[in-house]
Amino acid sequence: MSQKTILILGGYGNTGLALAHLLLQETNARLILAGRNRKKAENSAYHLNIPFEPNEKRVTGLVADAANVESLKQAFQGVDFVVVASGTTNYAKEVITAALAIGVDYLDVQYSREKLETLRAWKDDIEQAGRCFITEAGFHPGMPAALVRYAATFFDCMDQAVASSVVNLGGTLPKSMDTLYEFVEEFKNYDSYIFKEGGWREASSTTMRDMYRTDFGPEFGKRYCAPMLLEEMVALPEIIPTLRETGFYIADTNLVASWGLFPLIMLGLKFWPKRAVKPLGKLLYWSYKLLKAPPYGVALKVEAHGEKDGKAKDLEIILTHKDGYMFTVIPVAACLLQYLEGSIQKQGLWMLGHLVDPTRLIYDVERLGATLRTREQIGFSRDSAH
Ligand SMILES: NC(=O)c1ccc[n+]([C@@H]2O[C@H](COP(=O)([O-])OP(=O)(O)OC[C@H]3O[C@@H](n4cnc5c(N)ncnc54)[C@H](OP(=O)(O)O)[C@@H]3O)[C@@H](O)[C@H]2O)c1
Repeated sequence: MSQKTILILGGYGNTGLALAHLLLQETNARLILAGRNRKKAENSAYHLNIPFEPNEKRVTGLVADAANVESLKQAFQGVDFVVVASGTTNYAKEVITAALAIGVDYLDVQYSREKLETLRAWKDDIEQAGRCFITEAGFHPGMPAALVRYAATFFDCMDQAVASSVVNLGGTLPKSMDTLYEFVEEFKNYDSYIFKEGGWREASSTTMRDMYRTDFGPEFGKRYCAPMLLEEMVALPEIIPTLRETGFYIADTNLVASWGLFPLIMLGLKFWPKRAVKPLGKLLYWSYKLLKAPPYGVALKVEAHGEKDGKAKDLEIILTHKDGYMFTVIPVAACLLQYLEGSIQKQGLWMLGHLVDPTRLIYDVERLGATLRTREQIGFSRDSAH
Protein backbone atom coordinates (compact mmCIF):
# COMPACT_ATOMS: atom_id res chain seq x y z
CA MET A 1 0.00 0.00 0.00
CA SER A 2 1.68 3.30 -1.06
CA GLN A 3 1.57 5.89 1.70
CA LYS A 4 -1.46 8.19 1.38
CA THR A 5 -2.30 11.36 3.25
CA ILE A 6 -5.78 11.46 4.78
CA LEU A 7 -7.15 14.70 6.17
CA ILE A 8 -9.93 14.34 8.76
CA LEU A 9 -12.13 17.43 8.92
CA GLY A 10 -13.34 17.45 12.52
CA GLY A 11 -10.23 15.38 13.32
CA TYR A 12 -10.19 16.15 17.04
CA GLY A 13 -13.94 15.63 17.55
CA ASN A 14 -15.37 12.37 18.90
CA THR A 15 -15.72 10.63 15.52
CA GLY A 16 -12.56 12.13 13.99
CA LEU A 17 -10.27 11.17 16.86
CA ALA A 18 -11.65 7.63 17.17
CA LEU A 19 -11.13 7.18 13.41
CA ALA A 20 -7.59 8.58 13.61
CA HIS A 21 -6.69 5.93 16.24
CA LEU A 22 -8.01 3.14 14.01
CA LEU A 23 -6.35 4.43 10.85
CA LEU A 24 -2.98 4.63 12.61
CA GLN A 25 -3.43 1.03 13.74
CA GLU A 26 -4.76 -0.38 10.45
CA THR A 27 -3.01 1.59 7.68
CA ASN A 28 0.31 3.27 6.98
CA ALA A 29 -1.43 6.56 6.06
CA ARG A 30 -0.25 9.97 7.19
CA LEU A 31 -3.06 11.83 8.97
CA ILE A 32 -3.99 15.50 9.26
CA LEU A 33 -6.45 16.44 12.00
CA ALA A 34 -8.24 19.62 10.91
CA GLY A 35 -10.72 21.94 12.59
CA ARG A 36 -11.12 25.59 13.49
CA ASN A 37 -8.98 25.45 16.63
CA ARG A 38 -5.23 25.18 16.05
CA LYS A 39 -4.38 24.37 19.66
CA LYS A 40 -6.84 21.48 19.84
CA ALA A 41 -5.71 20.11 16.46
CA GLU A 42 -2.00 20.25 17.36
CA ASN A 43 -2.56 18.91 20.85
CA SER A 44 -4.50 15.88 19.57
CA ALA A 45 -1.85 15.25 16.89
CA TYR A 46 0.87 15.44 19.57
CA HIS A 47 -0.83 12.74 21.68
CA LEU A 48 -1.43 10.45 18.70
CA ASN A 49 2.26 10.78 17.72
CA ILE A 50 3.60 9.71 21.14
CA PRO A 51 4.12 6.01 20.21
CA PHE A 52 6.10 6.95 17.07
CA GLU A 53 9.82 7.77 16.74
CA PRO A 54 10.55 11.49 15.98
CA ASN A 55 11.30 10.78 12.30
CA GLU A 56 8.23 8.52 11.92
CA LYS A 57 5.55 10.88 13.22
CA ARG A 58 2.43 10.37 11.11
CA VAL A 59 -0.03 12.96 12.45
CA THR A 60 -0.20 16.73 12.12
CA GLY A 61 -2.78 19.25 13.31
CA LEU A 62 -4.05 21.99 11.01
CA VAL A 63 -6.56 24.83 10.96
CA ALA A 64 -9.32 24.55 8.37
CA ASP A 65 -12.80 26.01 8.35
CA ALA A 66 -15.46 24.15 6.33
CA ALA A 67 -17.28 27.45 5.82
CA ASN A 68 -14.33 28.87 3.88
CA VAL A 69 -13.40 27.36 0.49
CA GLU A 70 -9.98 29.05 0.41
CA SER A 71 -9.11 27.69 3.85
CA LEU A 72 -10.16 24.20 2.66
CA LYS A 73 -8.19 24.47 -0.58
CA GLN A 74 -5.06 25.36 1.37
CA ALA A 75 -5.62 22.49 3.81
CA PHE A 76 -6.19 19.98 0.96
CA GLN A 77 -2.81 20.68 -0.72
CA GLY A 78 -0.85 17.41 -0.85
CA VAL A 79 -3.81 15.44 0.54
CA ASP A 80 -5.13 12.27 -1.18
CA PHE A 81 -8.35 11.79 0.75
CA VAL A 82 -10.61 13.86 2.99
CA VAL A 83 -12.88 12.33 5.63
CA VAL A 84 -15.60 14.76 6.68
CA ALA A 85 -16.27 13.99 10.37
CA SER A 86 -17.60 17.42 11.34
CA GLY A 87 -21.12 18.72 11.83
CA THR A 88 -20.75 20.91 8.76
CA THR A 89 -23.50 19.76 6.40
CA ASN A 90 -24.40 23.43 5.76
CA TYR A 91 -21.01 23.71 4.06
CA ALA A 92 -21.21 20.59 1.87
CA LYS A 93 -20.85 22.76 -1.24
CA GLU A 94 -17.67 24.39 0.06
CA VAL A 95 -16.08 21.01 0.89
CA ILE A 96 -17.02 19.49 -2.50
CA THR A 97 -15.75 22.57 -4.37
CA ALA A 98 -12.38 22.46 -2.60
CA ALA A 99 -12.02 18.68 -2.97
CA LEU A 100 -12.69 18.84 -6.73
CA ALA A 101 -10.47 21.90 -7.22
CA ILE A 102 -7.47 20.25 -5.54
CA GLY A 103 -8.23 16.69 -6.71
CA VAL A 104 -8.98 14.87 -3.45
CA ASP A 105 -11.18 11.79 -2.90
CA TYR A 106 -13.89 12.10 -0.24
CA LEU A 107 -15.93 10.30 2.42
CA ASP A 108 -18.46 11.75 4.86
CA VAL A 109 -20.19 10.29 7.92
CA GLN A 110 -22.92 12.91 8.09
CA TYR A 111 -26.65 12.31 8.25
CA SER A 112 -28.30 15.10 6.28
CA ARG A 113 -30.73 15.24 3.40
CA GLU A 114 -29.40 18.66 2.37
CA LYS A 115 -25.84 17.30 2.12
CA LEU A 116 -27.05 14.41 -0.02
CA GLU A 117 -28.95 16.74 -2.34
CA THR A 118 -25.84 18.92 -2.71
CA LEU A 119 -23.68 15.89 -3.51
CA ARG A 120 -26.23 14.62 -6.04
CA ALA A 121 -26.25 18.03 -7.75
CA TRP A 122 -22.46 17.67 -8.18
CA LYS A 123 -22.57 14.01 -9.30
CA ASP A 124 -21.56 14.72 -12.93
CA ASP A 125 -18.70 17.00 -11.87
CA ILE A 126 -17.43 14.31 -9.47
CA GLU A 127 -17.49 11.72 -12.27
CA GLN A 128 -15.89 14.02 -14.84
CA ALA A 129 -13.13 14.90 -12.38
CA GLY A 130 -12.50 11.16 -11.95
CA ARG A 131 -12.88 11.40 -8.19
CA CYS A 132 -14.25 8.76 -5.81
CA PHE A 133 -16.77 10.27 -3.35
CA ILE A 134 -18.27 8.03 -0.65
CA THR A 135 -21.22 9.34 1.33
CA GLU A 136 -23.57 8.01 4.05
CA ALA A 137 -20.70 6.28 5.85
CA GLY A 138 -20.62 5.15 9.49
CA PHE A 139 -23.01 3.20 11.73
CA HIS A 140 -26.22 4.78 10.49
CA PRO A 141 -26.09 6.03 7.93
CA GLY A 142 -23.65 3.41 6.66
CA MET A 143 -24.09 -0.08 8.04
CA PRO A 144 -27.81 -0.95 7.55
CA ALA A 145 -27.63 -1.31 3.74
CA ALA A 146 -24.28 -3.09 3.96
CA LEU A 147 -25.70 -5.55 6.52
CA VAL A 148 -28.76 -6.25 4.36
CA ARG A 149 -26.46 -6.92 1.38
CA TYR A 150 -24.40 -9.21 3.62
CA ALA A 151 -27.58 -11.04 4.72
CA ALA A 152 -28.47 -11.59 1.03
CA THR A 153 -25.31 -13.71 0.61
CA PHE A 154 -26.91 -16.34 2.90
CA PHE A 155 -29.86 -16.91 0.51
CA ASP A 156 -30.61 -17.96 -3.06
CA CYS A 157 -33.62 -15.64 -2.86
CA MET A 158 -34.16 -13.17 0.02
CA ASP A 159 -37.64 -11.63 0.17
CA GLN A 160 -37.53 -9.87 3.53
CA ALA A 161 -34.72 -7.98 5.29
CA VAL A 162 -35.55 -5.52 8.05
CA ALA A 163 -32.81 -3.52 9.75
CA SER A 164 -33.19 -2.05 13.23
CA SER A 165 -30.88 -0.43 15.72
CA VAL A 166 -30.59 0.71 19.30
CA VAL A 167 -28.26 3.56 20.26
CA ASN A 168 -27.41 4.61 23.81
CA LEU A 169 -24.27 6.73 23.91
CA GLY A 170 -24.37 6.97 27.70
CA GLY A 171 -24.03 10.72 27.89
CA THR A 172 -21.04 10.96 25.49
CA LEU A 173 -21.81 14.26 23.85
CA PRO A 174 -20.50 15.85 20.66
CA LYS A 175 -17.56 18.14 21.40
CA SER A 176 -19.00 20.95 19.31
CA MET A 177 -22.48 22.40 19.88
CA ASP A 178 -22.68 22.87 16.08
CA THR A 179 -22.94 19.07 15.80
CA LEU A 180 -26.03 19.08 18.04
CA TYR A 181 -27.60 21.97 16.11
CA GLU A 182 -27.05 19.98 12.90
CA PHE A 183 -28.73 16.98 14.54
CA VAL A 184 -31.74 19.08 15.55
CA GLU A 185 -32.01 20.53 12.01
CA GLU A 186 -32.28 17.02 10.62
CA PHE A 187 -35.55 16.44 12.50
CA LYS A 188 -37.11 18.69 9.83
CA ASN A 189 -36.37 15.98 7.27
CA TYR A 190 -37.48 12.98 9.31
CA ASP A 191 -39.39 10.55 7.09
CA SER A 192 -40.85 7.20 8.05
CA TYR A 193 -41.18 5.29 4.76
CA ILE A 194 -41.10 1.50 4.73
CA PHE A 195 -40.99 -0.97 1.83
CA LYS A 196 -43.79 -3.53 2.13
CA GLU A 197 -45.42 -5.85 -0.41
CA GLY A 198 -43.02 -4.58 -3.05
CA GLY A 199 -43.66 -0.83 -2.64
CA TRP A 200 -42.64 2.14 -0.50
CA ARG A 201 -45.31 3.75 1.67
CA GLU A 202 -45.37 6.17 4.58
CA ALA A 203 -45.72 4.50 7.98
CA SER A 204 -48.70 5.31 10.17
CA SER A 205 -47.84 8.07 12.65
CA THR A 206 -51.11 7.83 14.59
CA THR A 207 -51.20 4.09 15.32
CA MET A 208 -48.70 1.44 16.44
CA ARG A 209 -49.44 -0.51 13.23
CA ASP A 210 -46.04 0.09 11.64
CA MET A 211 -43.93 -0.05 14.79
CA TYR A 212 -41.50 -2.96 14.82
CA ARG A 213 -40.78 -5.00 17.94
CA THR A 214 -37.61 -7.00 18.07
CA ASP A 215 -35.19 -8.61 20.49
CA PHE A 216 -31.69 -7.10 20.52
CA GLY A 217 -30.28 -9.87 22.70
CA PRO A 218 -29.08 -10.02 26.30
CA GLU A 219 -27.71 -6.44 26.47
CA PHE A 220 -30.75 -4.53 25.22
CA GLY A 221 -33.65 -7.01 25.28
CA LYS A 222 -36.93 -6.50 23.41
CA ARG A 223 -37.68 -3.01 22.14
CA TYR A 224 -40.28 -1.16 20.14
CA CYS A 225 -38.70 0.51 17.10
CA ALA A 226 -40.04 3.35 14.95
CA PRO A 227 -39.59 3.47 11.15
CA MET A 228 -37.00 5.93 9.88
CA LEU A 229 -36.17 6.38 6.21
CA LEU A 230 -32.45 6.04 5.50
CA GLU A 231 -31.53 7.00 1.94
CA GLU A 232 -29.20 4.02 1.64
CA MET A 233 -32.22 1.69 2.04
CA VAL A 234 -34.09 3.22 -0.91
CA ALA A 235 -31.97 1.50 -3.57
CA LEU A 236 -32.04 -1.93 -1.90
CA PRO A 237 -35.07 -3.29 -3.80
CA GLU A 238 -33.18 -2.48 -7.02
CA ILE A 239 -29.94 -4.02 -5.79
CA ILE A 240 -31.79 -7.12 -4.45
CA PRO A 241 -34.81 -7.45 -6.81
CA THR A 242 -36.35 -10.37 -4.85
CA LEU A 243 -36.99 -8.12 -1.81
CA ARG A 244 -40.66 -7.61 -0.95
CA GLU A 245 -40.08 -6.02 2.47
CA THR A 246 -37.31 -3.87 3.87
CA GLY A 247 -36.79 -0.74 5.94
CA PHE A 248 -34.91 0.69 8.87
CA TYR A 249 -36.29 1.07 12.40
CA ILE A 250 -34.83 2.86 15.39
CA ALA A 251 -35.42 1.62 18.94
CA ASP A 252 -36.76 3.47 21.88
CA THR A 253 -33.97 4.06 24.42
CA ASN A 254 -35.58 6.60 26.65
CA LEU A 255 -39.31 7.12 27.14
CA VAL A 256 -38.92 10.80 28.07
CA ALA A 257 -36.88 11.46 24.92
CA SER A 258 -39.09 9.43 22.57
CA TRP A 259 -42.48 10.60 23.81
CA GLY A 260 -41.60 14.05 25.20
CA LEU A 261 -38.44 15.58 23.80
CA PHE A 262 -38.47 14.41 20.17
CA PRO A 263 -42.11 15.43 19.55
CA LEU A 264 -41.28 18.77 21.21
CA ILE A 265 -38.33 19.25 18.83
CA MET A 266 -40.55 18.45 15.82
CA LEU A 267 -43.20 20.88 17.03
CA GLY A 268 -40.68 23.65 17.81
CA LEU A 269 -39.12 23.31 14.35
CA LYS A 270 -42.53 23.41 12.70
CA PHE A 271 -43.33 26.80 14.21
CA TRP A 272 -39.82 28.32 14.33
CA PRO A 273 -37.72 26.39 11.78
CA LYS A 274 -34.65 28.59 12.27
CA ARG A 275 -35.04 30.30 15.65
CA ALA A 276 -35.81 27.08 17.55
CA VAL A 277 -32.66 25.21 16.46
CA LYS A 278 -30.21 26.56 19.07
CA PRO A 279 -32.55 26.47 22.11
CA LEU A 280 -33.65 22.94 21.15
CA GLY A 281 -30.00 21.92 20.64
CA LYS A 282 -29.22 23.10 24.19
CA LEU A 283 -32.27 21.26 25.52
CA LEU A 284 -31.06 18.11 23.77
CA TYR A 285 -27.59 18.60 25.28
CA TRP A 286 -28.95 18.73 28.83
CA SER A 287 -31.40 15.91 28.26
CA TYR A 288 -28.57 13.65 27.06
CA LYS A 289 -26.59 14.56 30.17
CA LEU A 290 -29.44 14.14 32.64
CA LEU A 291 -31.51 11.32 31.17
CA LYS A 292 -28.71 8.84 30.54
CA ALA A 293 -29.38 5.36 31.85
CA PRO A 294 -27.72 2.01 31.14
CA PRO A 295 -27.37 -0.30 29.27
CA TYR A 296 -24.98 1.75 27.15
CA GLY A 297 -23.79 0.78 23.71
CA VAL A 298 -25.20 0.19 20.26
CA ALA A 299 -26.67 -2.68 18.31
CA LEU A 300 -27.63 -3.16 14.69
CA LYS A 301 -29.80 -6.08 13.67
CA VAL A 302 -31.07 -7.50 10.39
CA GLU A 303 -33.86 -10.06 10.37
CA ALA A 304 -34.20 -11.71 7.00
CA HIS A 305 -36.32 -14.37 5.39
CA GLY A 306 -35.99 -16.19 2.10
CA GLU A 307 -35.02 -19.44 0.43
CA LYS A 308 -31.85 -21.48 0.30
CA ASP A 309 -31.48 -24.78 -1.60
CA GLY A 310 -35.25 -24.99 -2.03
CA LYS A 311 -35.96 -24.59 1.69
CA ALA A 312 -37.40 -21.64 3.61
CA LYS A 313 -34.83 -19.96 5.80
CA ASP A 314 -34.81 -17.36 8.57
CA LEU A 315 -31.70 -15.41 9.44
CA GLU A 316 -30.82 -13.00 12.25
CA ILE A 317 -27.59 -11.03 12.34
CA ILE A 318 -26.76 -8.73 15.26
CA LEU A 319 -23.71 -6.50 15.57
CA THR A 320 -23.08 -4.84 18.93
CA HIS A 321 -20.47 -2.59 20.46
CA LYS A 322 -20.09 -0.98 23.88
CA ASP A 323 -18.95 2.32 22.35
CA GLY A 324 -21.19 4.10 19.83
CA TYR A 325 -18.40 6.25 18.43
CA MET A 326 -16.15 3.22 17.86
CA PHE A 327 -19.05 1.53 16.09
CA THR A 328 -19.34 4.62 13.88
CA VAL A 329 -15.70 4.63 12.81
CA ILE A 330 -15.10 0.87 12.53
CA PRO A 331 -17.14 0.61 9.27
CA VAL A 332 -15.41 3.76 8.00
CA ALA A 333 -11.96 2.28 8.64
CA ALA A 334 -13.10 -1.04 7.13
CA CYS A 335 -14.33 0.80 4.02
CA LEU A 336 -11.09 2.80 3.76
CA LEU A 337 -9.11 -0.47 3.84
CA GLN A 338 -11.01 -1.57 0.71
CA TYR A 339 -10.44 1.87 -0.84
CA LEU A 340 -6.71 1.92 -0.05
CA GLU A 341 -6.30 -1.57 -1.55
CA GLY A 342 -7.93 -0.22 -4.72
CA SER A 343 -10.92 -2.60 -4.93
CA ILE A 344 -13.55 0.15 -4.45
CA GLN A 345 -11.57 3.15 -5.70
CA LYS A 346 -14.08 3.93 -8.45
CA GLN A 347 -14.92 7.30 -9.89
CA GLY A 348 -18.36 8.67 -9.04
CA LEU A 349 -20.65 9.26 -6.07
CA TRP A 350 -21.38 6.20 -3.92
CA MET A 351 -23.00 5.30 -0.63
CA LEU A 352 -20.81 3.17 1.62
CA GLY A 353 -23.56 0.56 2.02
CA HIS A 354 -23.77 0.05 -1.76
CA LEU A 355 -20.07 0.31 -2.67
CA VAL A 356 -18.26 -2.00 -0.26
CA ASP A 357 -17.80 -5.74 -0.52
CA PRO A 358 -20.22 -6.59 2.33
CA THR A 359 -18.62 -9.90 3.32
CA ARG A 360 -15.18 -8.35 3.62
CA LEU A 361 -16.67 -5.35 5.47
CA ILE A 362 -18.41 -7.49 8.11
CA TYR A 363 -15.24 -9.57 8.51
CA ASP A 364 -13.26 -6.38 9.23
CA VAL A 365 -16.00 -4.86 11.42
CA GLU A 366 -15.86 -7.95 13.65
CA ARG A 367 -12.05 -8.05 13.60
CA LEU A 368 -11.94 -4.40 14.67
CA GLY A 369 -13.97 -5.00 17.80
CA ALA A 370 -17.71 -5.36 17.09
CA THR A 371 -19.45 -8.50 18.36
CA LEU A 372 -21.24 -10.45 15.63
CA ARG A 373 -23.99 -13.00 16.32
CA THR A 374 -25.65 -14.91 13.51
CA ARG A 375 -28.58 -17.32 13.86
CA GLU A 376 -30.00 -19.34 10.97
CA GLN A 377 -33.08 -21.55 10.87
CA ILE A 378 -33.50 -23.70 7.81
CA GLY A 379 -36.68 -25.45 6.73
CA PHE A 380 -38.66 -23.06 8.91
CA SER A 381 -41.14 -20.69 7.36
CA ARG A 382 -42.01 -17.45 9.18
CA ASP A 383 -45.57 -17.66 7.86
CA SER A 384 -46.15 -21.09 9.34
CA ALA A 385 -44.89 -19.86 12.75
CA HIS A 386 -47.63 -17.28 13.16
N1 LIG B 1 -22.85 7.92 10.43
C1 LIG B 1 -22.90 7.75 11.75
O1 LIG B 1 -23.21 6.66 12.22
C2 LIG B 1 -22.55 8.88 12.68
C3 LIG B 1 -22.42 8.64 14.06
C4 LIG B 1 -22.03 9.69 14.89
C5 LIG B 1 -21.80 10.96 14.35
N2 LIG B 1 -21.98 11.15 13.02
C6 LIG B 1 -21.75 12.47 12.40
O2 LIG B 1 -20.38 12.79 12.55
C7 LIG B 1 -20.23 14.21 12.60
C8 LIG B 1 -19.36 14.56 13.81
O3 LIG B 1 -19.99 14.13 15.01
P1 LIG B 1 -19.19 14.16 16.39
O4 LIG B 1 -20.14 13.73 17.44
O5 LIG B 1 -17.88 13.47 16.24
O6 LIG B 1 -18.94 15.74 16.55
P2 LIG B 1 -17.99 16.53 17.53
O7 LIG B 1 -17.45 15.68 18.62
O8 LIG B 1 -18.77 17.75 17.92
O9 LIG B 1 -16.80 16.97 16.57
C9 LIG B 1 -17.02 17.82 15.50
C10 LIG B 1 -15.68 18.33 15.03
O10 LIG B 1 -15.89 19.16 13.87
C11 LIG B 1 -15.16 20.38 14.02
N3 LIG B 1 -15.86 21.44 13.30
C12 LIG B 1 -17.05 22.01 13.60
N4 LIG B 1 -17.34 22.99 12.73
C13 LIG B 1 -16.29 23.04 11.84
C14 LIG B 1 -15.99 23.86 10.73
N5 LIG B 1 -16.81 24.84 10.31
N6 LIG B 1 -14.86 23.62 10.05
C15 LIG B 1 -14.00 22.64 10.46
N7 LIG B 1 -14.23 21.84 11.51
C16 LIG B 1 -15.37 22.04 12.21
C17 LIG B 1 -15.13 20.60 15.53
O11 LIG B 1 -14.02 21.42 15.92
P3 LIG B 1 -14.13 23.02 16.03
O12 LIG B 1 -15.51 23.34 16.55
O13 LIG B 1 -13.02 23.37 16.98
O14 LIG B 1 -13.90 23.53 14.64
C18 LIG B 1 -14.95 19.18 16.05
O15 LIG B 1 -13.61 18.80 16.03
C19 LIG B 1 -21.66 14.78 12.68
O16 LIG B 1 -22.04 15.21 11.40
C20 LIG B 1 -22.49 13.59 13.11
O17 LIG B 1 -23.82 13.64 12.67
C21 LIG B 1 -22.34 10.14 12.18
